[in-house]
Amino acid sequence: MKIKFVTSNRNKFREAEEIGKDHGVDIEWVDREYLEPQGDELETVAVKSAEMLSDCVTPPFFIEDSGLFIDALNGFPGVYSSYVFKTIGNEGIMKLMDGVDRRRASFVSVIAYHDGETIKVFRGEVRGRISENIRGTYGFGYDPIFEINGKTFAEMGAEKNEVSHRRKALEKFFSWLAKTF
Ligand code: IMP
Repeated sequence: MKIKFVTSNRNKFREAEEIGKDHGVDIEWVDREYLEPQGDELETVAVKSAEMLSDCVTPPFFIEDSGLFIDALNGFPGVYSSYVFKTIGNEGIMKLMDGVDRRRASFVSVIAYHDGETIKVFRGEVRGRISENIRGTYGFGYDPIFEINGKTFAEMGAEKNEVSHRRKALEKFFSWLAKTF
């Protein structure tokens, strides 16, 4: 089965492509940048994005929206993860977390699949913590500060794709696809 993934993020596409291979799903990359609508929840942002994109990309396709939710910051940056990364980046998060002992955080991935008529949503979440320092060279975005079992995503390399929020969301999506088609 072949399915379109609309994203301008090459790293996200690569991760999804690998996970797709494990499930016999061939993912076609539609490299398109779009303005993310605002919303209080990742689900709202993902659904609105998929609706908007269906004007210029022919369904079926899916998109994915992710966010880092830090417990001690009441879920910040959450739906603002993209803006926060662009403005203050990992260094800024390190400053916000300076001296904070409570470092637990979640990474969440929400997929919105548009079949031409309806939009179906799939959510994946991993618990981890914000590392004390920026570590690792693999991956992208917040990977160097999000840690599971002592290793940041950016230190894991391929292992990230085994345990990530994205894999969890994609696996739910792929098993739904397998049941539906
Ligand atoms: P979005 O899904 O592209 O809106 O992502 C929001 C922000 O989180 C962006 O700054 C991304 O770089 C970052 N991000 C998304 N997914 C990941 C990930 O798997 N690891 C690290 N950062 C991520």
